[in-house]
Amino acid sequence: MNISEIFIAGDHSSLELKSSCKEFLESLGYKVTDLGTNSDESVDYPDFAYILTQKIKSVKNSYGVLICGTGIGISIAANRDKFIRCALCHDEFTAKMAREHNDANVLAFGARVLDSKMAKKLCEIFFSTEFAGGRHERRVKKLS
Ligand code: RB5
Repeated sequence: MNISEIFIAGDHSSLELKSSCKEFLESLGYKVTDLGTNSDESVDYPDFAYILTQKIKSVKNSYGVLICGTGIGISIAANRDKFIRCALCHDEFTAKMAREHNDANVLAFGARVLDSKMAKKLCEIFFSTEFAGGRHERRVKKLS
């Protein structure tokens, strides 16, 4: 994959997992920018989904990671934008398929669903899996 930068964001439930995923992705050599939130004060996940999706659209070849309690709210919010294909993933298989079949540009997961080991595994798989193209290209085009 050609990745210029990875943006990561989440709500108050994501703090610990967000920083461990950021650190892990940096250790793999990616440029990672944390867009918040950075305090445990309660915030609204759509605000952080919006901040991240705007960045993805303005920086060429950039990708994203979004985290909330379940990953559900923040992935719904991100997918309101036609340019975004945000995949809520739970395991190795869904992380791989999100890239291979759906050409997802944002990975989402739940801080109250996954432990840090699994979250890092998803990051590793997602950002190293190429889109398969072919018949999937036609389907992905139809999404927008
Ligand atoms: C916040 O308590 C929680 O609702 C949020 O993190 C997320 O799980 C929403 O989908």
